[in-house]
Amino acid sequence: MEQQVQRTRRRLHVALVYNGDREGGPEHPEDRGGTNDLRTMIRHMAKSLRRAGNKVTVVPLARNLSAFQRKLRRLAPDVVFNQYDDVVHGALYEMRLQALVRMMGFPITGSPALALGLTRYKHMSASLLQGAGIRIPFCTDVLERVSDVDRRAWPFPLIVQPSQEHAGIGLDRTSIIHSKKALRDRTRIILKEFHQPVLVQSFLPGREFNVAIIGGRRLRVMPLAEIDYSQLPAEIPPIMSYAAKYIETAEEYKKTRVICPAEVEPELAREIISTALRAFRAVGAWGYGRVDIRLNSEGRPCVLEVNCNACLDDGVGMARQANHVGITYPRLLQMIVKAALEGQPYDADIPMI
Ligand SMILES: Nc1ncnc2c1ncn2[C@@H]1O[C@H](COP(=O)(O)OP(=O)(O)O)[C@@H](O)[C@H]1O
Ligand SMILES: [Mg+2]
Repeated sequence: MEQQVQRTRRRLHVALVYNGDREGGPEHPEDRGGTNDLRTMIRHMAKSLRRAGNKVTVVPLARNLSAFQRKLRRLAPDVVFNQYDDVVHGALYEMRLQALVRMMGFPITGSPALALGLTRYKHMSASLLQGAGIRIPFCTDVLERVSDVDRRAWPFPLIVQPSQEHAGIGLDRTSIIHSKKALRDRTRIILKEFHQPVLVQSFLPGREFNVAIIGGRRLRVMPLAEIDYSQLPAEIPPIMSYAAKYIETAEEYKKTRVICPAEVEPELAREIISTALRAFRAVGAWGYGRVDIRLNSEGRPCVLEVNCNACLDDGVGMARQANHVGITYPRLLQMIVKAALEGQPYDADIPMI
């Protein structure tokens, strides 16, 4: 009997939650960032979590929050695997979903609501990182009106993007700015199209790295990945734009490579890793995440952003980096589940049902 209880305990019931809303606009087959690709990833993730020994129920959330809550309560999972990414309602829905699940009393993978919200507001997390003594790109500023451009002098080149997007949304060939007029034009376009403040930073010309971090109280850093832009023609700026990330037919996509593991001199690697770890902790991230880093003109690592619940698609990003130290995809997912069950030391577990 006791043995049976132990066995049951080991087999966790995981509720895999994702955004089941199909209102993301028309699907383009060459765009790997659409809902069809998301569904394929969720299916594969469920299969891999089962392979890791869990019972898995996939729970899409699409508009009907009460139905979602009823379902979750009925399932009473041991842990919720959070894959809720909201491109429809805007940056803050991810943190709201996380908070809701926590208030229902379930452990949930990845970062707490505070970190999810904070890091989706790029200018806020940048100021926090700077306040914590972590290097960020020089000249980071936020513009809420076109006339804000006249507030100060600007050292060009700059990179300009919507301040509350992710996944390269709002970044394209026009994002690197060399004049005040171009800054004004780009600001006007972003304010109109994205209805959100505009993030302006010095454009860092140096090498770019992704640092994948996994764990709760004890963090593990995966082998570094470097983005190689050397094949790009001169007219395409070396940045991880939406096209470079997702549009298979775009030159940006075809000519941007990821080198993993990256070849980095040990001293620089140490500086990159310690910067990333400090940034991860500073924003209150938990469980897993990816820190994007770029070197400034002096060769020093600066934090571009902390991606709290970073993409977990198999074979790319974090999963690829983990694979280089023998961490299989099912094991990676299980490590993330384990960090969720470990819980943050100061996060009280008091369900409000
Ligand atoms: N200050 C900067 N200097 C140089 N490149 C940058 C800078 N900020 C962003 N980038 C480029 O744009 C990409 C996306 O920017 P990031 O802030 O990480 O937004 P996202 O959330 O869309 O990934 C980065 O991976 C990098 O290539
Ligand atoms: Mg990024």
